[in-house]
Amino acid sequence: MDSTILQKARAYEAEQGASIPADQRPAYHLTPYVGWMNDPNGFSFYQGQYHLFYQYYPYDTVWGPMHWGHAVSRDLIHWEYLPAALAPDAPFDQNGCFSGSAAQLPDGRQLLLYTGVLWETQPNGTHRDIQTQCVAVGDGLNYEKLPQNPVLTHRDLPEGFSRFDFRDPKIWQEPDGSYSAVAVAQSETEGGAALLFHSPDGFQWEYTTLLDASRGEYGVMWECPDFFQLEGKQVLMAGPMEMQAHDEYHNGHCVIALIGSYDPETHQFTREKVQLMDEGIDFYATQTTLAPDGRRIMTAWMQSWSGSSAKPQGCRWFGQTIFPRELQLKDGRLIQTPVRELEAARGQKVLHENILIQDETQLEGIGGRVIDLTVQITPEEDCRSFTLKLAAKERFCTTLTYEPGSATLTLDRTYAGGLYQDIVHTRSCKILCPDKTLKLRVLLDRNSVEVFINDGEQTMTACIYTPQDAEGITFAADGTARVTAEQYTLNI
Ligand code: FRU
Repeated sequence: MDSTILQKARAYEAEQGASIPADQRPAYHLTPYVGWMNDPNGFSFYQGQYHLFYQYYPYDTVWGPMHWGHAVSRDLIHWEYLPAALAPDAPFDQNGCFSGSAAQLPDGRQLLLYTGVLWETQPNGTHRDIQTQCVAVGDGLNYEKLPQNPVLTHRDLPEGFSRFDFRDPKIWQEPDGSYSAVAVAQSETEGGAALLFHSPDGFQWEYTTLLDASRGEYGVMWECPDFFQLEGKQVLMAGPMEMQAHDEYHNGHCVIALIGSYDPETHQFTREKVQLMDEGIDFYATQTTLAPDGRRIMTAWMQSWSGSSAKPQGCRWFGQTIFPRELQLKDGRLIQTPVRELEAARGQKVLHENILIQDETQLEGIGGRVIDLTVQITPEEDCRSFTLKLAAKERFCTTLTYEPGSATLTLDRTYAGGLYQDIVHTRSCKILCPDKTLKLRVLLDRNSVEVFINDGEQTMTACIYTPQDAEGITFAADGTARVTAEQYTLNI
């Protein structure tokens, strides 16, 4: 490792990152060691631990020349920081090491496949990114970029695809030992598209086919694709940019899952259904991996691009990942549940059953900021709305309001504090399968709320920067509702 750019980043984060007190970070969500984080990268199980890399700019809490930060975990709850893995220091990536992924080589080394960025000056003096795909090989700690980089350029793409938008390769190993990857690119006719590539050894790559594309319907460019089998179906996941609001989709960046079938002989993907992955505020750039026990586990950046200029004053880290989620299929839709590892961290249990709620009510023992809370709400005939207040104290709170008449759930962090910019603070979703009882599992961490609706049929995720002593939780109904609340403190 002779890169001074990487050495500088490692020295900086070792000093600055280590000096951020643990209680000034979330308890069980990964944050950058110091500075800025966006997409999770290289999510993989390698040599007995989960590795999670991330888009990283250590020197400030804003996006900058992209490095790869690095952390490892045995349980997806506790993360240990490792030194930054990649820095923008090679002739083929000197303007950024953009998102990518990881796989294991037959000799046991770890292969990183990522996007290298080089600026090209335009006639008007501005610059645009030229994006190519590059490889680095390492031992789980140090990585060497190979001299044959880049391994894929726009010349490998079909006619009409832009050299400015070709990125975010997600790699996996095929049963025969060869490798495949999906990456995104853009053309005038297809819009954002997910393209499949193949390699016998992880180093030599060639284009296979176009899997699917937005074609004006799902945003303009796509980002951070993934492609995997799940319970007999094939899932193509991607993050459309500049989505136009329709149905459950909101304007701007979001994550969609295209669920269908795949023929490995012809490489044809046939889309059957499309779903929005999260209906809250802060959720983007998903990436999945296979756990050793076969579970498909997904992480994501728990942030939105449009809200990323809003941050608490004086913060030393910015950006975090969601708590990893297990993916399953139910009635042709993806459902998401927090990885079961969390159950081992559950401590004290408080249970209140079948409580009649009208005016704002506190329930003995229910409260806190690092908790796993499940609330079952059964509105009575007269119930117009039900509100669960979280992280509440004096003027601060984040609310979840359910209106049974329209089967609408609204997440509102307007009064969460910390973020005083005019960004999105509230989102609503229609409950897909409204039943007599609505079940909400809420994971609260110091700086976030993740809501799993009806056993993960839908989710809503948002960051909150509320003062940590705002620990109150209350229940209120306009009309009458019956509530069962089960809370676990999390010992982390
Ligand atoms: C998505 C993204 C990726 C890109 C990376 C750059 O959030 O824009 O497409 O690789 O971030 O940091």
